[in-house]
Amino acid sequence: MKDIDVIEYLPKIITELKQGILLNTKSKDKINSMTIAWGQIGIEWRKLIFTAYVRHSRFTHQQIEKSKEFTVSVPLDRTPVKEAIAYCGTKCGKDINKLSDMNLTVLDGIKVNSPAIKELPLTLECKVIYQKEQDKNNIPKDVIEMFYPDNPLNNGDYHTVYYGEIVGAYII
Ligand SMILES: Cc1cc2nc3c(=O)[nH]c(=O)nc-3n(C[C@H](O)[C@H](O)[C@H](O)COP(=O)(O)O)c2cc1C
Repeated sequence: MKDIDVIEYLPKIITELKQGILLNTKSKDKINSMTIAWGQIGIEWRKLIFTAYVRHSRFTHQQIEKSKEFTVSVPLDRTPVKEAIAYCGTKCGKDINKLSDMNLTVLDGIKVNSPAIKELPLTLECKVIYQKEQDKNNIPKDVIEMFYPDNPLNNGDYHTVYYGEIVGAYII
C-alpha cells in the first residue's frame, strides 16, 4: 500500500473515470459497488473533494444516505476488470453481491468503512461533507431532454451531488 498525491494522479483518474470506475459503499454489513463516469476532483473550503453524482434510483443512493461516505476505485490496468465494471454498471446491488459475483477482492478501508478493491488499486477514501439536489429549473433544456426525460420511468430521478472529502488516497 503506497500513499499517493491525488493531484499527481489526476490525469490518470480522470482518463479512467470517463470510461467507468467504481464507487463503493458499505452500510451495516452490506457492501456494494456501482460504476460511475461522472465526477469531479477539486477544491472547496481548502479541502480536496471528489464530487459524485448519484441518481435517486440507485441502490448506492440508499447506501450513501445511511453511511455518508464512499470509496472510489480506479483501475491501473482496465483489461482484467472490464467485465466487472460493466456488471457493476448494469446490475442493482440491492439483492446481490456484485463484488463476489465478479470475484473481486474486497479489502477494509482505512479511514472509512467503505471497502477498497485489490483489482482496482488506486483508491480514494471519501467522507460526505455536503450534498445537494440538482435544481431542474437551472438545467439546460437539451440536458433535461437527454438525461431527465419527462416520462413515468424517469420522473424525479435526478442526481444527488455528493461532496466527498478525500481523506485517504493510496495504491494497493
Ligand atoms: C459507464 C457507466 C457510467 C455510469 N455512471 C453513473 C454515474 O455517474 N451516476 C449514476 O448515478 N449512475 C451511473 N451509472 C449507472 C449505474 O452504475 C447503474 O445504474 C448501477 O446498476 C447502479 O447500481 P446500484 O443500484 O447497485 O447502485 C453508470 C453506468 C455505466 C455503465
